[in-house]
Amino acid sequence: MTPPQTAPMTVRVAADSLALACGADAVAATFQRAGCEVQRVSSWGMHWLEPLVDIGGEGFGPVAPGDVAAILHGDKTLSIGKIEEHPFIARQMRLTFARAGKTRPLSLDDYGATGGWRGLQKARELAPETIVEQVTASGLRGRGGAGFPAGIKWKTVAAAPCTEKYIVCNADEGDSGTFADRMVMEGDPFQLIEGMAIAGLAVGAGKGFIYLRSEYPHAIKTMRAAIEASREIVAPFTLEVRVGAGAYVCGEETSLLNSLEGRRGEVRAKPPLPAIAGLFGLPTVVNNVLTLAAVPHIIADGPEKYANFGLGRSRGTMPVQLAGNIKYGGLFEAGFGMSLRELVEDIGGSTASGRPIKAVQVGGPLGAYIPLDQFDIQFDYETYAGAGALIGHGGIVVFDDTADMARLARFAMHFCAEESCGKCTPCRIGAVRGREIMDRIISGNGRPVDAVEGLPQMHNATTAGRSHVDEVALLTDLCDTMKYGSLCALGGFTPYPVMSALRFWPEDFGLTRELVEGASA
Ligand SMILES: Cc1cc2nc3c(=O)[nH]c(=O)nc-3n(C[C@H](O)[C@H](O)[C@H](O)COP(=O)(O)O)c2cc1C
Ligand code: SF4
Repeated sequence: MTPPQTAPMTVRVAADSLALACGADAVAATFQRAGCEVQRVSSWGMHWLEPLVDIGGEGFGPVAPGDVAAILHGDKTLSIGKIEEHPFIARQMRLTFARAGKTRPLSLDDYGATGGWRGLQKARELAPETIVEQVTASGLRGRGGAGFPAGIKWKTVAAAPCTEKYIVCNADEGDSGTFADRMVMEGDPFQLIEGMAIAGLAVGAGKGFIYLRSEYPHAIKTMRAAIEASREIVAPFTLEVRVGAGAYVCGEETSLLNSLEGRRGEVRAKPPLPAIAGLFGLPTVVNNVLTLAAVPHIIADGPEKYANFGLGRSRGTMPVQLAGNIKYGGLFEAGFGMSLRELVEDIGGSTASGRPIKAVQVGGPLGAYIPLDQFDIQFDYETYAGAGALIGHGGIVVFDDTADMARLARFAMHFCAEESCGKCTPCRIGAVRGREIMDRIISGNGRPVDAVEGLPQMHNATTAGRSHVDEVALLTDLCDTMKYGSLCALGGFTPYPVMSALRFWPEDFGLTRELVEGASA
């Protein structure tokens, strides 16, 4: 079937990994065969609608190749109306994702026409210390997990008496349910390059590295092409993509630096901080993709505009990633301060399965499981820390009432045992022992303790079955040891999912609330 128009119609289809996985290439090819001009753009981040097709601002989705002819003949069945007016988009405050869905990722024309390079131009007219002051004044905190103020980190590197320094972008993005870094790199790569070039000017670094995980082949390709295309614009600053093998611990900044140096990805003891002795022993800024991508806006529009979003010490916008068992999953950027209920129930539409929500995990595989009765807590760094939870990289993973929290908690211990870099004992050995204790709790009461505790060198350990109370007390003790004795947050945060699952859903472990509270008191 041919389209009714005489002039070729321009149709926009996303080309990011998620859209591709949903069949965007086949949809784009069908529009092309029908005589349309197809532009491959970044994704709007409404993942349940991919492949989302944009025709003159009106959205259609999810579109299959078989729907193309009908759409071109005016069928509105798949229409969502004006994309910008869709409630999911209209409710957001998009800064980092201002270009999402609108521009072609590798088009310098599109980037320049939408305010690109304004920040870099301004930064070139400022003294380095003024750039650092503006980043500090914006209140920007690291979006990679720890929430450390970017301005303070930059000030330390700027003050280091070395002629050679580095900017390292942490694009390892290993947290469960996260994809915002990938979306920036695949959809708006020049924004990250601009942010890194500004960081270079601020601290006196001439070279930047982007540490990207091998599971992100499209991001690797797009970033490399974007670096090539913008080489002269950011010169004399130079950039390189380095690909990591995909170990979770290589997202930890010092382990990342080891990996970047071609060594085993093992965590380094701090001090010295990377800001003093980082890559190849030189002062290094290590920042997350979202942290660096926020910088062009801060410099171009002034720190006040950025600081006006959010509340308390959590300033600016946060690209929240709605994932897991959720109806309207995707990228939602807004100022801090929304409640989990608004994000998950109102915006995310609750579960995709239609069953009641049981829990959400925020902040990656080491974040606490949050039960429904805590859904009114506000999304910001301090409130979450106060509730024993993490914001991390802003990933929210939803589980319905079929989730077995005991198995999920056991997985957290297993994950830690598998991903441990092995440098410190609480994590290396604690996670393995923790997994064994959990297996014994989950599989039933009084089972004789196994394996290692029966070895000759462990002759003081009992091999008789322990009661549930003793097992829970032992697990609590072990979690405390991991929390306070681990060298980095991989071992240190594993207790969060484990203990939250045990505390809020004891019945999934075959236990009672009284028993858990009594044993862990
Ligand atoms: C086990 C572990 C994994 C981490 N993974 C990431 C990651 O994938 N991406 C990231 O930016 N930060 C990650 N971090 C945090 C980094 O160590 C570091 O705080 C961050 O890159 C600093 O950048 P920011 O200040 O911009 O957040 C991880 C930390 C730990 C302990
Ligand atoms: S906590 Fe685990 S990952 Fe971190 S340094 Fe210790 S052994 Fe390595």
